[in-house]
Amino acid sequence: MRPPAILRPNPRLPITDGPCAPVTEPVGFHVTPDCPPRSRRTAESLLEGGHITAGATGRSDLELICRADGLTLVAHPASGPALELHIDLVGGARGYRHARAERSREDLVRALGRLPRGSRIIDASAGLGRDALVLAARGFEVVAVERNPVLAALLRDAMERASSHRVLRASLDRLSLQQADVREWLSRHEGIFDAAVFDPMFPPRRKDAEVRKEMRIVHRLLGANPDPDAPETLKALQGRVRRCVVVKRPLHAPAVGGLRPARSLRGRSTRFDVYLPSTVGSQPPGRPGKG
Ligand SMILES: C[S@@+](CC[C@H](N)C(=O)[O-])C[C@H]1O[C@@H](n2cnc3c(N)ncnc32)[C@H](O)[C@@H]1O
Repeated sequence: MRPPAILRPNPRLPITDGPCAPVTEPVGFHVTPDCPPRSRRTAESLLEGGHITAGATGRSDLELICRADGLTLVAHPASGPALELHIDLVGGARGYRHARAERSREDLVRALGRLPRGSRIIDASAGLGRDALVLAARGFEVVAVERNPVLAALLRDAMERASSHRVLRASLDRLSLQQADVREWLSRHEGIFDAAVFDPMFPPRRKDAEVRKEMRIVHRLLGANPDPDAPETLKALQGRVRRCVVVKRPLHAPAVGGLRPARSLRGRSTRFDVYLPSTVGSQPPGRPGKG
């Protein structure tokens, strides 16, 4: 059996913000007695890094809760019911089967072109891990990078829970989650990827009520202007790919930073802008590191 090394928090990568991470909201922390030890350890590394505060922060309506089903982020808005973000890669409306069947994920794979199985892809915006998992399920080796420590912890916890799932195990073995700003991560790792995908935050417009709820809490966590450095991130990715960078955008949104893509693939509600590498031939053909 292959060791599940990529599912464990990497001790060489402490949960810290990268240099260009935007300011995010303070998050309180609450643990119930039935919280599984693995989830508790993931949350404790956030506590140690000062990314969450035990008990209520008094400054925030956001709270990370560790309960029997693992980590959940809860938002208590001034009015209306509480919102919850609990990543479940296996079941539910956001689970693996649903994500795999979604048209927009098919389009993402098409936008990448004909990449053979085993190609190495960097997902520069891991978020809730749906794109990364679908790409890993297609047989790609995926390094997924998420700079928000709380989101990265929620995703790591979900990956650990899903690792016992018979169907998902092989895909998760091909998926490495890194908590860092992707530009900072790239500066510490040599080599180039076959392709990159980048899905920076944008005001949610999708009709699906559940997705809207999920993204509302992500927006609450990441603040009003979540990814102001998206153009710089795109340029950094262009310098580290062999084939292309695919940027996901809402259908009618402007291109990131006004940068003109080589081509675009238009889905029902999402557009995939494809950018060519900026340094083909000038990068050493090394294998990008995982850790
Ligand atoms: C719209 S979400 C991505 C959703 C994801 N594609 C999925 O399938 O769930 C955007 C995420 O990208 C992350 N992000 C944006 N710029 C980043 C960067 N430079 N490095 C790492 N993460 C970044 C944000 O923190 C946010 O969580």
